[in-house]
Amino acid sequence: MINVVLGTFFGDEGKGKVIDYLSQQSTMAIRCTGGNNAGHTIKVNGKKFAFHLIPSGILNPNAKAVIANGVVIDPKVLVQEITQLKEAGFSVNNLYISDKAHVIMPYHILLDKILEERRGTEKLGTTACGIGPAYCDKYERSGIRMEDFIGDHFSKIALRNIENKNVILEAFGHEKLDANAIIQEYSEYANILKPYVTDTFSLIHDALEKDEKILCEGAQATLLDIDHGTYPYVTSSNPTIGGICAGTGVGAKDIGQVIGVLKAYSSRVGAGPYPTEQDNEIGDKLRELGHEYGSTTGRPRRCGWLDLVALKYAVRINGLTGLAINHLDTIGKLDRIKLCVGYQHGQDITTNYSTNLKFLNDCLPVYEEFEGNFGDISGMKQIMELPIQAQRYLKRIEEFVGVPVRFVGTGPERENMIVRG
Ligand code: IMP
Repeated sequence: MINVVLGTFFGDEGKGKVIDYLSQQSTMAIRCTGGNNAGHTIKVNGKKFAFHLIPSGILNPNAKAVIANGVVIDPKVLVQEITQLKEAGFSVNNLYISDKAHVIMPYHILLDKILEERRGTEKLGTTACGIGPAYCDKYERSGIRMEDFIGDHFSKIALRNIENKNVILEAFGHEKLDANAIIQEYSEYANILKPYVTDTFSLIHDALEKDEKILCEGAQATLLDIDHGTYPYVTSSNPTIGGICAGTGVGAKDIGQVIGVLKAYSSRVGAGPYPTEQDNEIGDKLRELGHEYGSTTGRPRRCGWLDLVALKYAVRINGLTGLAINHLDTIGKLDRIKLCVGYQHGQDITTNYSTNLKFLNDCLPVYEEFEGNFGDISGMKQIMELPIQAQRYLKRIEEFVGVPVRFVGTGPERENMIVRG
């Protein structure tokens, strides 16, 4: 059975903590979509590890860590992550990379930056990792898959692609890329990665047949989905449940629990509509209290109240079976808390989200207010131990979306978490 952890809003909900907990009980951890635009930091034995591509399940020597076909892989970043782990004394023998995953080449990164620059005042705020251009090539069928990357024909495909991209780069007034230098550098990465490349489709299905516990680690989040997010302010993959199936090759019947991760407030990095944003001192306070700065780019995150209209949308798209609510301690430091329970659009009040940009810009959130001041909840292990005002807040969220709270983050450390059976 496959359990899945997904982001419900704009990413950075703190998926790593829940993933870390669930991966200890899993024999396989899989990254399914996105690339090194994602990032999470995990502390083990007092040491911090930053991961962008490798599933955090790698730290469990009894689990297989899989980068599946839906991921776009920057080989340079992956080699750095492998080196970092080896230097810290971890074996990386349990890493498996899909032969069908696509490779991010230097021209993708360059084009991501150039295209973003050319958007002028209408920038998307991409992570500049080359994600969009790499997925473009995948769908345009000129991408380089891992099996091509480690194969004899890599230099031929790479040369053709670089020559084509050079035409575009020159048209943009940029100097041409040196094909030979790139091919030489990237052939070295290919040699390092070759031992890990395999048919992950069969690996995953063999594990399913043996009834193993598998965890899919979502990246990015629902409202950044290329189909269901706030287009064009989205990433270029499907971070929703459909992306998990396509990004691994598993069917819907193999999916078990689908845990949606959110914060007790909300945040967004990058541009795009965000009705509950608090571009004021409340937002500033949430940013400071929650240390809301991007783990991949270091950018300050926009912060605001929790939006239950958007959460209901995430529940519907992903078929969420449980919620993991992080930063309850953070929101509990405020005196008063607001929760968005509807959108006023003209004369109407609706609880149905729409990704239509005009609708999102025009609507006004309808709030309910809750009492804050939760005090120190970091050591609490049961929802019943929480102060009554914190329980009321959680109860309202559950009632609104009809999905039970399974995990509650009560502080920054791994053990600061309430797990409900
Ligand atoms: P891209 O994925 O780099 O193309 O960026 C597209 C949009 O998604 C930008 O607004 C990014 O800030 C956002 N984004 C991409 N990955 C993440 C993530 O892991 N967390 C939060 N935002 C992300």
